[in-house]
Amino acid sequence: MSDDLLQRVKVHGAVPAHIAIIMDGNGRWAKGRALPRPLGHHAGMRAVREVIQGCLDAGVGVLSLFAFSQENWQRPAVEIGALMSLLEEYIGRELDNLRSNGVVVRILGDIERLAPSARQAVYRVMEETAAGDRLALNLCISYSSRAEIARAARLLAEDAAAGRLDPRAIDEDAFAGRLYTAPWPDPDLLIRTSGEMRISNFLLWQLAYAELYVTPVLWPDFTRRHLFEAILEFQRRDRRFGRVSV
Ligand code: FPP
Repeated sequence: MSDDLLQRVKVHGAVPAHIAIIMDGNGRWAKGRALPRPLGHHAGMRAVREVIQGCLDAGVGVLSLFAFSQENWQRPAVEIGALMSLLEEYIGRELDNLRSNGVVVRILGDIERLAPSARQAVYRVMEETAAGDRLALNLCISYSSRAEIARAARLLAEDAAAGRLDPRAIDEDAFAGRLYTAPWPDPDLLIRTSGEMRISNFLLWQLAYAELYVTPVLWPDFTRRHLFEAILEFQRRDRRFGRVSV
């Protein structure tokens, strides 16, 4: 049971407003069981459900999940196909549940690169969950942080060239306002599973002051309890944002 940990999270201190997760280790999870890699991704879907429920229970407002990077397009076609089908399966299966729990889903990334049926599914989940007001779920798909930053620069340049923006007014807020994440606060906590110590081109701008939490647990084994352990560790950290402790 993880409810004992949930109680501790609630009394221990402030809960992160925004949690970002690099869901890693599906391939190794499958390999360890002599299964094909796509079955590892399939098993990872259960962990997605767990962390969404955990965030709802703990009162986290924003959850950003790195589900598919632009670099992942270089994986074998069979694995890409399996991940796209999984995305459609996930949306088909979870849409009602997400909506009834007040989850609003956004897709961050280059949606136009998705296969037409996957694209249709992601537009559908965004449209049909738009009224959600308990948890914002950002699924980062075909996402690259450097591409997102270049896109923001392009949008600023277009506004300046069209005379809508004085280049001298370009500051951090103007820049952040052109990122996919414009509506949300920056992540307070980044969780990465499977023990790798990398950021892997994920939310590079937004993670400037995030607390980093790396666990050896492989993504398909990650549970609500692991999420609460990460939040408890976050609550023990002394966040100084470049200042000295008070
Ligand atoms: C990294 O593991 C994981 C991915 C590239 C895909 C993540 C996808 C899911 C968890 C599927 C369900 C999610 C949704 C939202 C439908 P890896 O393959 O790089 O693992 P490895 O490093 O062990 O090889």
